[in-house]
Amino acid sequence: MKGRPGIAGIGCAVPQQRLTNLDLEKLVETSDEWIVTRTGIRERRILRPNEDPAQLGVAAARQAIESAGLSSSDIDFLITATNVSEMLVPGSSPFICEGLKIKREIPFFDLIAGCTGFVYALKVAADLVTAGSYKNIVVVGMEALSRFTDWQDRSTCVLFGDGAGAAVVREMPKGRGILASCLAADSSKWDLLYIEAGGIKTPASLETVQKRQHFLRMEGGGVFKSAVQMMEETTAKALAEAGLTKDDVDWVVPHQANLRIITSFAKRFGISMDRVIVNIDRYANTSTASIPIALTEAVSDGRIKPGDIVVLNAFGAGVTYGAIVLRW
Ligand code: UT7
Repeated sequence: MKGRPGIAGIGCAVPQQRLTNLDLEKLVETSDEWIVTRTGIRERRILRPNEDPAQLGVAAARQAIESAGLSSSDIDFLITATNVSEMLVPGSSPFICEGLKIKREIPFFDLIAGCTGFVYALKVAADLVTAGSYKNIVVVGMEALSRFTDWQDRSTCVLFGDGAGAAVVREMPKGRGILASCLAADSSKWDLLYIEAGGIKTPASLETVQKRQHFLRMEGGGVFKSAVQMMEETTAKALAEAGLTKDDVDWVVPHQANLRIITSFAKRFGISMDRVIVNIDRYANTSTASIPIALTEAVSDGRIKPGDIVVLNAFGAGVTYGAIVLRW
């Protein structure tokens, strides 16, 4: 392979239904002022009960394939990064492949790495392309956390939104593509963010439903404290591996979990917020979908241009964290 693997096409899709902070004021004891000042979120998109999350993944992937100048028959691998899949078995990927009408024999799998899933999946896809095993890989970040949100818990229900984003990873023209990456994790912090029941440790039962153990639980303060340091660490390592410094960076596209986390990272890392892509106000935290949604918007409106140095960085349940440096 002559060129590096990189993102040749990108796309996203969000549900139509908007849930504003004012709507949430009617559900739990909260206020628009609290949510905006503590998180930067003003509204989020939420799937209606009859809507199928996989269709978001299909729409995002279709857009990414088109923007790469390819058709679904060119795709030879698919990875879906998600925290909670379409069905426990067989995950989400087969439903996205079906929707894309992709050739039946292409391999696919789901990848669980918390909100860092999209960054992890990009790295896996890039390595598969570098190895020469596959040519055109679709990476989807798809999340419908509203389906696992406790709408009685004000500390979590204001934070999340639904959505999907996708990228086509393939060999890029010389000079462009992924320059370096750094993936990391700290298993001792798994209990900062989890859904306790419904897996093999605590299968679903009447008791787990009554105890509300199927909802997402989070120790927000714990995540907050670690997040800035995690983003700094992996970004610095990935930039160093690429032989670049923060002054070379044109854009950072961070995981959109909390505006205060993003601004603290930018301040400590010494990067102006003018160079950071933020859309948390409109979509909240869409987990594995947040980076590809923000990237798609920034590429579509012309902020990110071919040749720009772009950093993607994220952290999430596990805990996992990671950064990728690429030349767009
Ligand atoms: O994608 C990765 C996963 N998640 C994250 O990255 C989340 C990271 N953490 C955060 O974003 C923040 O920690 C939160 C936004 C979750 C919370 O902000 P905080 O500044 O850490 O607030 P806190 O948890 O310390 O709570 C402060 C107060 C508490 O009341 P008392 O105990 O001081 O009386 C909470 O009960 O705010 C209260 N509170 C709320 N009040 C109004 C918590 N949620 C709400 C709410 N509305 N929605």
